[in-house]
Amino acid sequence: MTESRENTKQEQLDRFREDQRNTVLTTQQGVRAGHDDDSLTAGARGPTLLEDFHAREKITHFDHERIPERVVHARGAGAYGYFEAYDNSLSEYTTAEFLTSGERIPVFVRFSTVAGSRGSADTVRDVRGFATKFYTRQGNYDLVGNNMPVFFIQDGIKFPDFVHAVKPEPHNEIPQAQSAHDTLWDFVARQPETMHMMMWLMSDRALPRSYRMMQGFGVHTFRLVNADGRGTFVKFHWKPVAGTHSLLWDECQKIAGKDPDFNRRDLWESIEAGRFPEWELGVQLVAEDAEHTFDFDLLDPTKIIPEEEVPVRPVGHLVLDRNPDNFFAETEQIAFHTANVVPGIDFTNDPLLQARNFSYLDTQLIRLGGPNFSQLPVNRPVAPVATNQRDGYGQQAIHRGRTSYFRNSLGGGCPALADAGGFHHYTEAVSGHKIRERSPSFKDYYSQATLFWNSMSEVEREHIVAAFRFELGKVETMSIREAVVGHLNEVDHDLAVRVAAGVGVAEPTPTGRANHGKRSAALSQLGQPGLTP
Ligand code: HEM
Repeated sequence: MTESRENTKQEQLDRFREDQRNTVLTTQQGVRAGHDDDSLTAGARGPTLLEDFHAREKITHFDHERIPERVVHARGAGAYGYFEAYDNSLSEYTTAEFLTSGERIPVFVRFSTVAGSRGSADTVRDVRGFATKFYTRQGNYDLVGNNMPVFFIQDGIKFPDFVHAVKPEPHNEIPQAQSAHDTLWDFVARQPETMHMMMWLMSDRALPRSYRMMQGFGVHTFRLVNADGRGTFVKFHWKPVAGTHSLLWDECQKIAGKDPDFNRRDLWESIEAGRFPEWELGVQLVAEDAEHTFDFDLLDPTKIIPEEEVPVRPVGHLVLDRNPDNFFAETEQIAFHTANVVPGIDFTNDPLLQARNFSYLDTQLIRLGGPNFSQLPVNRPVAPVATNQRDGYGQQAIHRGRTSYFRNSLGGGCPALADAGGFHHYTEAVSGHKIRERSPSFKDYYSQATLFWNSMSEVEREHIVAAFRFELGKVETMSIREAVVGHLNEVDHDLAVRVAAGVGVAEPTPTGRANHGKRSAALSQLGQPGLTP
């Protein structure tokens, strides 16, 4: 263990903190205010005068207090803490120091629901975001994950469609943060790749008891890259030390009325009370030459790598031990981005991940008002920053020197390239025609949904059936209900029969899929996993 660095971010933030207790009220210009109750008027009953700069400034600032909420994951709660790798055993696979140094690395984690607006209730049936910003010595690394290991769609080109379907319907903005509406189920009926994730969404995993009791997943297959440039596929997992626990649906509905801040409050109060939430980080590693040994594609984000095939290896732990001082400045203004990587971590060609790598920066340019939001206190790296980027709205830096272009012979202001430790993209060999087509296993929509169903206990199955009945039973269009039951019939006949009976749909006939719970015959021909992580 080397010197602890967990306070580096804290010290940086301290420089921005403003404590206004026991100070005199001023304008933005520092002029002391002698009055703050009455605006300046022409006589006791006359109009307000334009020259009242104090009142104008105060109201104008108020008028501009709101920024757009996140287009998804608008409602959230966050906290600071640290991450610590257990040892340096991953150095065989990666040059990312925070995964190997054993130092305490400062982090900020934001948990969120996905569909609801900023003011919606916590205990809705929804996916939860689990986004972590690691302020590492090599720059910021963001692991922008969810509490479920797969996603609804396989390609980011469908993300706007999916979100339009899952958000409240456009004509009346109903329902707020619920999965019970025709547009969502219409999308599901027409996009069977959603089925695996829909099984998770109808399960108790969508009703976490506490953010402290949720798993987290990076979802995509990423790549670790070592000092020799060798790549290893990796999936990231967070496991809560407090265990994974859920609420019952009935509890969720009551709590949503009594305490819409239930999960937020729990996170805040636990940290205030010194009961610091903890997670263990685990990785599943797959050698590059084992890429094609599975009956699914590692680039398909609707598939997990079963833990029986590749065990999760614990590599470090995360502790959240400090609440933010200001929700807006920190939790609201933090900007996560899947493309914020550090040397030793790289992407794969997962088409969902590739779209995310475009989308986050793009949306934050508008959400946070221009290109300088990485200078906001919560987003600032603790690693030194020196770019040739200049100007723009909200520029905080006073760049000195004459030059702001690379390469120059005049010196004075232009940073040099790193001799060592720079980010080098993994040198993956790529060839192929430009097509809009994925490998055939992307079309296996049901096998892993079946695997999920088969892994459930009877109580968990009852909850899943009840959830499908409740949510699908609210869909007005019968053909959508029937189509979804048809997909469930591909997942498991018994499941489909039980759901059909609760939503007024005729009992489906068995599909004859003899492989329920197993790999499909066609896919197993692709080869058995012969993996050496
Ligand atoms: C926000 C996770 C897919 C676009 C978020 C957040 C999380 C997350 C956790 C909240 C970040 C925060 O707390 O500030 C995921 C996961 C995905 C996924 C795990 C799939 C595996 C996508 C895709 C796109 C996308 C495919 C677009 C093509 C966005 C956008 C935001 C967001 C625009 C709002 C960001 C902001 O305003 O700061 N996502 N997301 N996400 N996500 Fe995703």
